[in-house]
Amino acid sequence: MDKSYLSNENFARLDEVIEEHKEKRGALMPVLHEAQKIFGCLSLEVQKKISEKMSVPLSEIYGVVTFYSQFTLEPKGKYTIGVCLGTACYVRGSQAIVDKVTELTGVAVGKTSSDGKFSLEATRCIGACGLAPVLTVNEEVYGRLTVEDIPGILAKY
Ligand code: FES
Repeated sequence: MDKSYLSNENFARLDEVIEEHKEKRGALMPVLHEAQKIFGCLSLEVQKKISEKMSVPLSEIYGVVTFYSQFTLEPKGKYTIGVCLGTACYVRGSQAIVDKVTELTGVAVGKTSSDGKFSLEATRCIGACGLAPVLTVNEEVYGRLTVEDIPGILAKY
């Protein structure tokens, strides 16, 4: 796994964020949010640093990070593929789209490929139901998909 996100520069930014919030009540959540923005994830290395600097037990931080789905423990891949599993997309076969993406990339939902290229996520409705089923790659949206479209889309990345 690529560890380049654990740079001194990022840790220095984290120090600043902690410094800003330290004295406030309920500082942990905002610090975790900011930390995820800085590092792209809240891996154990990042959690340990927050634990030390804020004097909060690691077990407490780990509990919060794993409880809220907006936090992610692993760095995301260069390209995040999101397949909508909202109702409109689901009834138009988005599960088959997910399966095809997994088959072609070897990445399961919620995971990142070992080369750090792709992450796969199942998303809720992204408000493009007219285009169902919908898949996104980072900011790019692809709609009215069939499984036959998937190899061509992935080949672009
Ligand atoms: S259900 Fe997929 S975009 Fe709305």
